[in-house]
Amino acid sequence: MDVVEVKNLTKKFEDVTAVNSITFDCHEKEFLCFLGRPGAGKTTLLRTIAGLEKVDEGEVYIHGDLVNEIIPSKRDIAMVFQNLALYTGWKVYDNIASPLKARKVPKNEINKRVKDVAKLLKIEHLLDRTPVTASGGEKQRIAIARALIRRPRVFLMDEPLSNLDALLRLEMRVELKRMAKELDQTIIYATPDQLEAMSMADRIGMMHKGVMHQLADPDTMYDHPATKTVAGFIGSPAMNFVEGSIEEKGEKKLFNCGSFQIDVSKFQGIIEKESKSPETTLGIRPEDISVSHDKTSPYSLESLVLLVEELGSETILHLRTSGVPINAIAPPDFQTKYGSKIWINMNMDRVHLIDTKAEKVIV
Ligand SMILES: Nc1ncnc2c1ncn2[C@@H]1O[C@H](COP(=O)(O)OP(=O)(O)OP(=O)(O)O)[C@@H](O)[C@H]1O
Ligand SMILES: [Mg+2]
Repeated sequence: MDVVEVKNLTKKFEDVTAVNSITFDCHEKEFLCFLGRPGAGKTTLLRTIAGLEKVDEGEVYIHGDLVNEIIPSKRDIAMVFQNLALYTGWKVYDNIASPLKARKVPKNEINKRVKDVAKLLKIEHLLDRTPVTASGGEKQRIAIARALIRRPRVFLMDEPLSNLDALLRLEMRVELKRMAKELDQTIIYATPDQLEAMSMADRIGMMHKGVMHQLADPDTMYDHPATKTVAGFIGSPAMNFVEGSIEEKGEKKLFNCGSFQIDVSKFQGIIEKESKSPETTLGIRPEDISVSHDKTSPYSLESLVLLVEELGSETILHLRTSGVPINAIAPPDFQTKYGSKIWINMNMDRVHLIDTKAEKVIV
Protein backbone atom coordinates (compact mmCIF):
# COMPACT_ATOMS: atom_id res chain seq x y z
CA MET A 1 0.00 0.00 0.00
CA ASP A 2 1.14 3.56 -0.64
CA VAL A 3 2.09 5.44 2.51
CA VAL A 4 0.82 8.76 1.21
CA GLU A 5 -1.66 9.24 -1.59
CA VAL A 6 -2.65 12.69 -2.74
CA LYS A 7 -5.47 13.21 -5.21
CA ASN A 8 -6.20 16.44 -7.08
CA LEU A 9 -4.98 18.53 -4.17
CA THR A 10 -5.52 22.26 -4.48
CA LYS A 11 -4.60 24.93 -1.96
CA LYS A 12 -5.18 28.62 -2.57
CA PHE A 13 -4.13 31.71 -0.69
CA GLU A 14 -6.52 34.42 -1.85
CA ASP A 15 -5.59 34.86 -5.54
CA VAL A 16 -2.50 32.61 -5.46
CA THR A 17 -3.01 28.93 -6.25
CA ALA A 18 -0.02 27.59 -4.31
CA VAL A 19 -0.84 23.94 -5.10
CA ASN A 20 -2.83 23.30 -8.25
CA SER A 21 -4.59 19.95 -8.58
CA ILE A 22 -1.62 17.79 -7.64
CA THR A 23 -1.85 14.00 -7.68
CA PHE A 24 0.86 11.58 -6.57
CA ASP A 25 1.53 8.58 -4.41
CA CYS A 26 4.51 7.88 -2.20
CA HIS A 27 5.48 4.24 -1.74
CA GLU A 28 6.63 2.56 1.43
CA LYS A 29 10.37 3.27 2.09
CA GLU A 30 10.54 5.71 -0.79
CA PHE A 31 12.64 8.88 -0.81
CA LEU A 32 10.38 11.22 -2.78
CA CYS A 33 11.71 14.66 -3.56
CA PHE A 34 9.70 17.70 -4.62
CA LEU A 35 11.85 20.04 -6.62
CA GLY A 36 11.07 23.56 -7.76
CA ARG A 37 11.97 27.22 -7.70
CA PRO A 38 11.04 29.40 -4.72
CA GLY A 39 7.28 29.86 -4.73
CA ALA A 40 6.65 26.59 -6.60
CA GLY A 41 4.38 25.40 -3.79
CA LYS A 42 6.64 22.80 -2.16
CA THR A 43 6.21 23.98 1.43
CA THR A 44 2.46 24.38 0.99
CA LEU A 45 2.22 20.82 -0.36
CA LEU A 46 4.18 19.41 2.59
CA ARG A 47 2.16 21.45 5.07
CA THR A 48 -1.14 20.16 3.67
CA ILE A 49 0.13 16.58 3.94
CA ALA A 50 1.13 17.25 7.55
CA GLY A 51 -2.26 18.83 8.24
CA LEU A 52 -0.85 22.27 8.98
CA GLU A 53 -2.83 23.77 6.10
CA LYS A 54 -6.43 23.04 5.30
CA VAL A 55 -7.11 21.47 1.91
CA ASP A 56 -9.31 23.49 -0.47
CA GLU A 57 -9.95 20.64 -2.89
CA GLY A 58 -8.80 17.06 -3.20
CA GLU A 59 -7.86 14.32 -0.80
CA VAL A 60 -4.89 13.25 1.30
CA TYR A 61 -4.67 9.58 2.32
CA ILE A 62 -2.16 8.13 4.76
CA HIS A 63 -1.94 4.34 4.76
CA GLY A 64 -5.23 4.27 2.93
CA ASP A 65 -7.10 6.47 5.41
CA LEU A 66 -8.54 9.80 4.33
CA VAL A 67 -6.97 12.36 6.68
CA ASN A 68 -8.37 15.68 5.37
CA GLU A 69 -10.11 16.29 8.66
CA ILE A 70 -7.50 14.65 10.92
CA ILE A 71 -5.36 16.96 13.09
CA PRO A 72 -1.55 16.96 12.56
CA SER A 73 -0.66 15.13 15.77
CA LYS A 74 -2.90 12.21 14.81
CA ARG A 75 -1.35 11.72 11.36
CA ASP A 76 1.87 10.05 12.52
CA ILE A 77 3.98 12.38 10.42
CA ALA A 78 7.10 14.23 11.49
CA MET A 79 8.34 17.36 9.76
CA VAL A 80 11.70 19.11 9.76
CA PHE A 81 11.80 22.67 8.52
CA GLN A 82 14.50 24.86 7.10
CA ASN A 83 14.45 26.97 10.26
CA LEU A 84 15.12 24.71 13.18
CA ALA A 85 13.42 25.27 16.46
CA LEU A 86 15.69 23.68 19.04
CA TYR A 87 15.32 24.45 22.72
CA THR A 88 18.59 26.24 23.34
CA GLY A 89 18.32 26.01 27.13
CA TRP A 90 17.98 22.23 27.08
CA LYS A 91 20.67 19.66 26.58
CA VAL A 92 20.80 18.00 23.18
CA TYR A 93 19.68 14.77 24.86
CA ASP A 94 16.51 16.43 26.14
CA ASN A 95 15.85 18.09 22.82
CA ILE A 96 15.90 14.73 21.08
CA ALA A 97 13.96 13.00 23.84
CA SER A 98 11.18 15.61 24.04
CA PRO A 99 8.68 13.98 21.60
CA LEU A 100 8.91 10.71 23.56
CA LYS A 101 8.64 12.41 26.96
CA ALA A 102 5.51 14.15 25.73
CA ARG A 103 4.11 10.71 24.93
CA LYS A 104 5.05 9.36 28.35
CA VAL A 105 7.36 6.68 26.99
CA PRO A 106 9.23 4.87 29.85
CA LYS A 107 12.61 6.37 30.77
CA ASN A 108 14.82 3.39 29.89
CA GLU A 109 13.10 3.08 26.51
CA ILE A 110 13.71 6.80 25.86
CA ASN A 111 17.33 6.40 26.86
CA LYS A 112 17.85 3.55 24.43
CA ARG A 113 16.16 5.30 21.54
CA VAL A 114 18.03 8.58 22.06
CA LYS A 115 21.33 6.68 22.09
CA ASP A 116 20.35 4.75 18.94
CA VAL A 117 19.28 7.77 16.93
CA ALA A 118 22.29 9.78 18.14
CA LYS A 119 24.56 7.00 16.95
CA LEU A 120 22.82 6.85 13.60
CA LEU A 121 23.28 10.58 13.09
CA LYS A 122 26.77 10.66 14.61
CA ILE A 123 25.97 13.14 17.37
CA GLU A 124 26.57 10.96 20.42
CA HIS A 125 29.32 13.31 21.62
CA LEU A 126 26.85 16.22 21.81
CA LEU A 127 24.17 14.66 24.02
CA ASP A 128 25.35 16.36 27.23
CA ARG A 129 25.84 19.78 25.63
CA THR A 130 23.31 22.45 24.66
CA PRO A 131 22.56 23.08 20.95
CA VAL A 132 24.18 26.54 21.26
CA THR A 133 27.60 24.90 21.19
CA ALA A 134 26.80 22.79 18.10
CA SER A 135 27.82 23.68 14.54
CA GLY A 136 25.23 24.32 11.81
CA GLY A 137 25.46 20.79 10.50
CA GLU A 138 25.25 19.34 14.01
CA LYS A 139 22.15 21.43 14.80
CA GLN A 140 20.57 20.04 11.65
CA ARG A 141 21.33 16.51 12.80
CA ILE A 142 19.85 17.22 16.22
CA ALA A 143 16.62 18.46 14.63
CA ILE A 144 16.49 15.40 12.38
CA ALA A 145 17.16 13.11 15.36
CA ARG A 146 14.33 14.72 17.27
CA ALA A 147 11.90 14.30 14.39
CA LEU A 148 13.04 10.76 13.72
CA ILE A 149 12.93 9.40 17.24
CA ARG A 150 9.21 8.69 17.06
CA ARG A 151 9.82 6.65 13.90
CA PRO A 152 6.95 8.36 12.11
CA ARG A 153 5.24 6.61 9.24
CA VAL A 154 6.19 9.52 7.03
CA PHE A 155 9.02 11.97 7.49
CA LEU A 156 8.58 15.33 5.76
CA MET A 157 11.68 17.46 5.27
CA ASP A 158 11.44 20.99 3.94
CA GLU A 159 14.82 22.22 2.64
CA PRO A 160 16.57 20.83 5.70
CA LEU A 161 20.02 21.55 4.29
CA SER A 162 19.53 25.02 2.88
CA ASN A 163 21.17 26.83 5.79
CA LEU A 164 24.37 24.84 5.54
CA ASP A 165 27.47 25.77 3.60
CA ALA A 166 28.21 23.93 0.36
CA LEU A 167 30.64 21.36 1.78
CA LEU A 168 28.44 20.45 4.72
CA ARG A 169 25.44 20.12 2.45
CA LEU A 170 27.32 17.63 0.37
CA GLU A 171 28.23 15.63 3.46
CA MET A 172 24.71 15.77 4.90
CA ARG A 173 23.26 14.71 1.55
CA VAL A 174 25.18 11.46 1.75
CA GLU A 175 24.31 11.02 5.43
CA LEU A 176 20.61 11.56 4.91
CA LYS A 177 20.49 9.09 2.08
CA ARG A 178 22.36 6.52 4.19
CA MET A 179 20.02 7.12 7.12
CA ALA A 180 16.91 6.77 4.96
CA LYS A 181 18.06 3.45 3.55
CA GLU A 182 19.34 2.11 6.89
CA LEU A 183 16.00 2.80 8.54
CA ASP A 184 13.79 2.03 5.52
CA GLN A 185 12.17 5.34 6.35
CA THR A 186 9.59 6.86 4.01
CA ILE A 187 10.69 10.43 3.29
CA ILE A 188 9.05 13.27 1.39
CA TYR A 189 11.61 16.00 0.85
CA ALA A 190 11.39 19.49 -0.66
CA THR A 191 14.31 21.34 -2.20
CA PRO A 192 15.06 23.98 -4.85
CA ASP A 193 18.43 22.29 -5.46
CA GLN A 194 18.33 19.93 -8.44
CA LEU A 195 21.63 18.29 -7.52
CA GLU A 196 20.28 17.47 -4.08
CA ALA A 197 17.16 15.95 -5.62
CA MET A 198 19.06 14.08 -8.32
CA SER A 199 21.53 12.58 -5.86
CA MET A 200 19.12 11.57 -3.10
CA ALA A 201 15.69 10.86 -4.51
CA ASP A 202 14.20 7.59 -5.66
CA ARG A 203 11.71 9.74 -7.56
CA ILE A 204 11.49 13.47 -8.18
CA GLY A 205 8.33 15.54 -8.51
CA MET A 206 9.12 18.73 -10.37
CA MET A 207 6.77 21.56 -9.37
CA HIS A 208 6.35 24.94 -11.01
CA LYS A 209 3.81 27.59 -10.03
CA GLY A 210 1.79 25.05 -8.09
CA VAL A 211 1.65 22.57 -10.98
CA MET A 212 3.42 19.21 -11.09
CA HIS A 213 5.29 19.03 -14.39
CA GLN A 214 6.71 15.53 -14.04
CA LEU A 215 7.07 12.78 -11.48
CA ALA A 216 9.76 10.26 -12.37
CA ASP A 217 13.07 8.75 -11.31
CA PRO A 218 16.17 10.96 -11.70
CA ASP A 219 17.45 9.26 -14.87
CA THR A 220 14.10 9.69 -16.62
CA MET A 221 13.93 13.35 -15.56
CA TYR A 222 17.36 13.90 -17.09
CA ASP A 223 16.95 11.84 -20.27
CA HIS A 224 13.27 12.42 -21.00
CA PRO A 225 12.08 15.69 -19.45
CA ALA A 226 8.36 16.21 -20.04
CA THR A 227 8.35 20.00 -20.28
CA LYS A 228 10.71 22.85 -21.05
CA THR A 229 10.70 23.80 -17.37
CA VAL A 230 11.96 20.36 -16.35
CA ALA A 231 14.47 20.28 -19.20
CA GLY A 232 15.90 23.64 -18.16
CA PHE A 233 15.95 22.95 -14.43
CA ILE A 234 17.54 19.49 -14.32
CA GLY A 235 21.23 19.35 -15.21
CA SER A 236 24.08 21.77 -14.72
CA PRO A 237 25.14 23.75 -16.69
CA ALA A 238 21.58 24.10 -17.96
CA MET A 239 20.29 22.79 -21.27
CA ASN A 240 20.71 25.15 -24.25
CA PHE A 241 17.48 26.32 -25.85
CA VAL A 242 17.34 27.67 -29.39
CA GLU A 243 14.05 29.03 -30.70
CA GLY A 244 13.09 28.39 -34.29
CA SER A 245 10.67 26.47 -36.44
CA ILE A 246 10.36 23.21 -38.32
CA GLU A 247 10.40 23.56 -42.08
CA GLU A 248 10.03 21.14 -44.96
CA LYS A 249 12.77 21.08 -47.55
CA GLY A 250 12.11 18.49 -50.23
CA GLU A 251 12.03 15.15 -48.45
CA LYS A 252 13.68 16.61 -45.37
CA LYS A 253 12.54 18.23 -42.16
CA LEU A 254 14.79 21.02 -40.95
CA PHE A 255 14.95 22.91 -37.71
CA ASN A 256 15.65 26.52 -38.65
CA CYS A 257 16.48 29.20 -36.09
CA GLY A 258 17.27 31.86 -38.66
CA SER A 259 21.03 31.60 -38.16
CA PHE A 260 21.54 27.92 -38.84
CA GLN A 261 19.62 24.82 -39.82
CA ILE A 262 19.68 21.31 -38.41
CA ASP A 263 18.36 18.24 -40.19
CA VAL A 264 15.75 16.67 -37.92
CA SER A 265 14.28 14.29 -40.52
CA LYS A 266 14.95 11.34 -38.23
CA PHE A 267 12.19 12.68 -35.94
CA GLN A 268 9.73 13.17 -38.80
CA GLY A 269 7.15 10.68 -37.53
CA ILE A 270 6.99 12.01 -34.00
CA ILE A 271 7.01 15.64 -35.13
CA GLU A 272 4.03 15.03 -37.37
CA LYS A 273 2.21 13.19 -34.62
CA GLU A 274 2.99 15.40 -31.61
CA SER A 275 3.73 18.90 -32.87
CA LYS A 276 0.80 21.31 -32.76
CA SER A 277 2.56 24.15 -34.59
CA PRO A 278 5.83 24.67 -36.49
CA GLU A 279 7.25 26.90 -33.75
CA THR A 280 9.80 24.69 -32.09
CA THR A 281 12.59 25.10 -29.57
CA LEU A 282 15.63 22.93 -29.91
CA GLY A 283 17.12 21.74 -26.63
CA ILE A 284 20.61 20.32 -26.28
CA ARG A 285 22.64 19.80 -23.11
CA PRO A 286 26.17 21.28 -22.99
CA GLU A 287 27.51 17.76 -22.33
CA ASP A 288 25.89 16.52 -25.54
CA ILE A 289 27.84 18.93 -27.73
CA SER A 290 31.35 18.01 -28.82
CA VAL A 291 33.90 20.64 -29.77
CA SER A 292 36.83 20.59 -32.16
CA HIS A 293 39.29 23.01 -33.72
CA ASP A 294 38.45 21.84 -37.21
CA LYS A 295 35.30 21.08 -39.10
CA THR A 296 34.73 17.36 -38.59
CA SER A 297 31.43 16.78 -40.39
CA PRO A 298 29.07 18.50 -42.84
CA TYR A 299 26.88 19.24 -39.80
CA SER A 300 29.59 21.01 -37.77
CA LEU A 301 28.67 24.56 -36.79
CA GLU A 302 31.26 27.28 -36.53
CA SER A 303 31.27 29.01 -33.12
CA LEU A 304 32.97 31.96 -31.48
CA VAL A 305 34.43 31.49 -28.00
CA LEU A 306 33.23 34.18 -25.57
CA LEU A 307 34.24 32.72 -22.24
CA VAL A 308 36.25 29.74 -21.03
CA GLU A 309 35.32 28.42 -17.58
CA GLU A 310 37.89 25.91 -16.40
CA LEU A 311 36.46 23.73 -13.65
CA GLY A 312 39.20 21.13 -13.38
CA SER A 313 37.48 17.98 -14.56
CA GLU A 314 35.81 19.81 -17.43
CA THR A 315 35.77 23.14 -19.21
CA ILE A 316 32.58 25.05 -19.93
CA LEU A 317 32.72 27.05 -23.13
CA HIS A 318 30.33 29.95 -23.62
CA LEU A 319 29.92 30.28 -27.37
CA ARG A 320 28.07 32.20 -30.05
CA THR A 321 27.02 29.93 -32.87
CA SER A 322 25.95 32.20 -35.74
CA GLY A 323 24.94 34.72 -33.10
CA VAL A 324 23.04 32.19 -30.97
CA PRO A 325 24.33 31.72 -27.39
CA ILE A 326 25.36 28.08 -26.79
CA ASN A 327 27.21 26.50 -23.88
CA ALA A 328 29.29 23.42 -24.48
CA ILE A 329 31.46 21.21 -22.30
CA ALA A 330 34.96 20.56 -23.55
CA PRO A 331 37.46 18.01 -22.24
CA PRO A 332 39.85 19.55 -19.67
CA ASP A 333 42.78 19.45 -22.11
CA PHE A 334 40.94 21.34 -24.86
CA GLN A 335 42.89 24.54 -25.46
CA THR A 336 41.05 27.64 -26.60
CA LYS A 337 40.58 31.25 -25.62
CA TYR A 338 38.32 34.27 -25.92
CA GLY A 339 37.78 35.23 -29.54
CA SER A 340 38.83 31.87 -31.03
CA LYS A 341 36.80 30.13 -33.70
CA ILE A 342 35.95 26.49 -33.02
CA TRP A 343 33.44 23.94 -34.35
CA ILE A 344 30.64 22.21 -32.52
CA ASN A 345 28.70 19.03 -33.25
CA MET A 346 25.41 18.25 -31.56
CA ASN A 347 24.80 14.62 -30.67
CA MET A 348 21.58 14.08 -32.60
CA ASP A 349 20.63 11.16 -30.37
CA ARG A 350 20.45 13.60 -27.48
CA VAL A 351 18.69 16.53 -29.12
CA HIS A 352 15.25 17.53 -27.83
CA LEU A 353 12.51 19.28 -29.77
CA ILE A 354 10.05 21.32 -27.75
CA ASP A 355 6.68 22.66 -28.88
CA THR A 356 7.41 26.33 -28.13
CA LYS A 357 3.84 27.38 -27.34
CA ALA A 358 2.84 24.35 -25.30
CA GLU A 359 6.34 24.15 -23.72
CA LYS A 360 6.02 20.39 -24.10
CA VAL A 361 8.99 18.22 -25.03
CA ILE A 362 8.05 16.15 -28.06
CA VAL A 363 11.44 14.48 -28.68
N1 LIG B 1 0.35 31.76 4.27
C1 LIG B 1 0.37 32.24 3.03
N2 LIG B 1 -0.40 33.30 2.67
C2 LIG B 1 -0.39 33.76 1.40
N3 LIG B 1 0.35 33.25 0.40
C3 LIG B 1 1.12 32.19 0.69
C4 LIG B 1 1.19 31.63 2.01
N4 LIG B 1 2.05 30.59 2.00
C5 LIG B 1 2.51 30.50 0.72
N5 LIG B 1 1.96 31.45 -0.05
C6 LIG B 1 2.19 31.64 -1.50
O1 LIG B 1 2.04 30.39 -2.14
C7 LIG B 1 3.02 30.18 -3.14
C8 LIG B 1 3.80 28.93 -2.85
O2 LIG B 1 4.58 29.13 -1.69
P1 LIG B 1 5.45 27.99 -1.01
O3 LIG B 1 6.01 28.54 0.23
O4 LIG B 1 4.63 26.76 -0.90
O5 LIG B 1 6.59 27.77 -2.10
P2 LIG B 1 7.95 26.96 -1.98
O6 LIG B 1 8.04 26.13 -3.20
O7 LIG B 1 8.03 26.27 -0.67
O8 LIG B 1 9.04 28.09 -2.06
P3 LIG B 1 10.50 28.20 -1.34
O9 LIG B 1 11.46 27.42 -2.18
O10 LIG B 1 10.78 29.67 -1.39
O11 LIG B 1 10.35 27.70 0.06
C9 LIG B 1 3.85 31.44 -3.16
O12 LIG B 1 3.38 32.28 -4.17
C10 LIG B 1 3.62 32.05 -1.79
O13 LIG B 1 3.76 33.44 -1.82
MG1 LIG C 1 9.36 26.40 0.89
